[in-house]
Amino acid sequence: MTKPDNKLLITGISGLLGNNLARYFKDKYEILGLYNSNPVTIRGIRTENCNISHSDDVKKIIQEFNPSIIIHSASLTNIDKCESDRDITYDINVRATENLVECVADKDVKLIYISTDSVYDGIKGNFSEDDDSNPLNYYGQSKLDGESEARKIETSLILRTNIFGWNIQDKESLGEWVINELKADRKISGFKDAFFSSIYTFELARIMDIAIQQDLSGTYNCSSSDSCSKYEFAQKIADYLGFDKNLITPISIDASGFKARRGKNLNLDTTKLQDKLDYRLPTIDQSIEVFCKDFQCGLPNAIKQKPEPVETPALISYGRQYIDANDVQAVINVLNSGWITQGPKIDEFEKALAGYCGAKYAVAVNSGTSALHIACLAAGVKKGDEVITSPNTFVASSNCAVYCGGAPIFADISLNTYNILPEEIEKKIHKNTKALIPVHFAGQSCDMETIKVIVAEKEKEFKSKIFIIEDACHALGSAYKNKPIGSCFFSDMTVMSFHPVKQITTGEGGAVLTNDDDLYKKLKRFSSHGIVSTQEEFIYSDSAFSSSVRNPWYYEQVDLGHNYRITDIQCALGLSQLKKLNMFRKRRLEIVARYNSTFSNIETIQIPFESNNCSSNFHLYVLLFDFDKIGLERAEFMSQLKENGIQTQVHYIPVYTHPFYRQTFGTNPGDCPNAESYYQQCLSIPLYPAMTDSDVEKVIVEILKTVKAK
Ligand SMILES: Cc1ncc(COP(=O)(O)O)c(C=O)c1O
Repeated sequence: MTKPDNKLLITGISGLLGNNLARYFKDKYEILGLYNSNPVTIRGIRTENCNISHSDDVKKIIQEFNPSIIIHSASLTNIDKCESDRDITYDINVRATENLVECVADKDVKLIYISTDSVYDGIKGNFSEDDDSNPLNYYGQSKLDGESEARKIETSLILRTNIFGWNIQDKESLGEWVINELKADRKISGFKDAFFSSIYTFELARIMDIAIQQDLSGTYNCSSSDSCSKYEFAQKIADYLGFDKNLITPISIDASGFKARRGKNLNLDTTKLQDKLDYRLPTIDQSIEVFCKDFQCGLPNAIKQKPEPVETPALISYGRQYIDANDVQAVINVLNSGWITQGPKIDEFEKALAGYCGAKYAVAVNSGTSALHIACLAAGVKKGDEVITSPNTFVASSNCAVYCGGAPIFADISLNTYNILPEEIEKKIHKNTKALIPVHFAGQSCDMETIKVIVAEKEKEFKSKIFIIEDACHALGSAYKNKPIGSCFFSDMTVMSFHPVKQITTGEGGAVLTNDDDLYKKLKRFSSHGIVSTQEEFIYSDSAFSSSVRNPWYYEQVDLGHNYRITDIQCALGLSQLKKLNMFRKRRLEIVARYNSTFSNIETIQIPFESNNCSSNFHLYVLLFDFDKIGLERAEFMSQLKENGIQTQVHYIPVYTHPFYRQTFGTNPGDCPNAESYYQQCLSIPLYPAMTDSDVEKVIVEILKTVKAK
């Protein structure tokens, strides 16, 4: 049973020792595991990203989690890398320890520092704690310096060890490597002149458990109680598991070619710890036996088990989400936090999004469609008003005006950018125009500067405000004139969508960004029933008070709003996704470059135009095909690709040609000729960050094959 007051913080949760310890201790303690660059998911264990060499980050975590025990197992252990990257090694192996010590110095926290046999020089062998430590390499030195930091707290427990166990990441400890190679009948070599007292991680955990119960402090060798050479170690594993021992060749460590020096005789005398705990430490044979039994029971596979893999689709689709272990963990953390909706993650996500886009405010809601609707409500769109938008968009861009009683007006698009043309807007603006909704199609920005100038002139002429609402559902991560889309530099509000095919996802979700205080308040109100709960916003503020006490239950509904609220679960995912947005964008652009270089040479294909003013995120990769010349109808072309595993899509049917618009607003085919001629030829081919290089090549091969089929 977990003791609620017993909280264990483990640093280096993605490392070999950290994750094995977490598994051992998880039924005894409430555990928080910290990782830096490698997110991990361990069932039943909360893990969080924290760079422990940053003291503020460590402080925050310790204050929040308030651990009673810290096992500091995070460490850079690659001896050659430590030798060449001393600054990084110092940060991780020394500074991080210093930070932890600083945070817990005045607290009742047990600090356990995991040190190494490399603090000894490996000359005489059988080292006791009283022997001089004299590391031969920077790894050993940095761990020794880390020990000095840990020792600043009198009650610290410092354990010098050497381990083998099961990695959660795609790495192999010595023991794992031996098993994997021998199992595959591959030859290996083992050092016959390098001795150690390595211990199985779960055995080390058991000893640590006893030491914690006895509240042990001080510095101890904590390893197997005897030793063997690394060659013998491999042989023992082969013996136990019945692998062919002839696959193992003895060699000398002198022939290894390692950059950093290593001690040859790093066997440890564990008498001090055995006496203190009154406990027999296992021999190497006993450690290996447990290790091999765990192997036979399938523990390594259980440990390596990745979070539910995102289902591998049979088809390469035109777009899809990218979800990794970090995202999964972020959602799990919220589910375990007590808040699943209307908690702190919403505010955090809104601030992070606004920060990314360079806007003052963001209001997150449950879809891009809801975001467009509240943007129109905040702009005051009502019956009799007209709202101008692009015909080349998803129906939500114009439906939002209709929800408010307004009439949509469609202005034709450019045949370069496929975006609404400023001159077409100019023709259609008049005194009833309440708002413009330019859509940044496929991530390519509209000509916002010109649009803004036109709107300013028309506002003067008609003496009325015309709101510019950017539909940037495709354009998070794009920039226009060096300003991030979403900054609202050229508009009153900007709308985003977080549907799974978009740049980042929250499942379903959306947001409105603005720099305007008044619009922000309205957006908040309309997203949640039209309700306000602060005194400044009350209409009947007297009702908020009984004598001088604020009635705690009191709120007012001042508008007819909606329940468009997003949840904490979604926002936790959004926050985690936002951290990857730049990586997503980079990957999309790599794929675009590959596509462009191939398809620009094909006569029957037109690649996307890129304006100098805009740095597109390439939400969609739309090609124009000359289907007549190719000799295939588009539907046939699409179905041939689909048969070969490639899903394509058409973006978009001109909105005004849908029956609802024709019947309700009298729109007709022919209204926007450019949108219609574009529509005849367009096809979006697969583009999403999770595409592998071989997916990309497959798409190219299949498209070229289909183009040349006739
Ligand atoms: C241009 C555009 N606007 C609005 C939306 C609506 O967003 P959501 O699906 O999040 O409601 C979409 C969705 O595809 C879109 O592509």
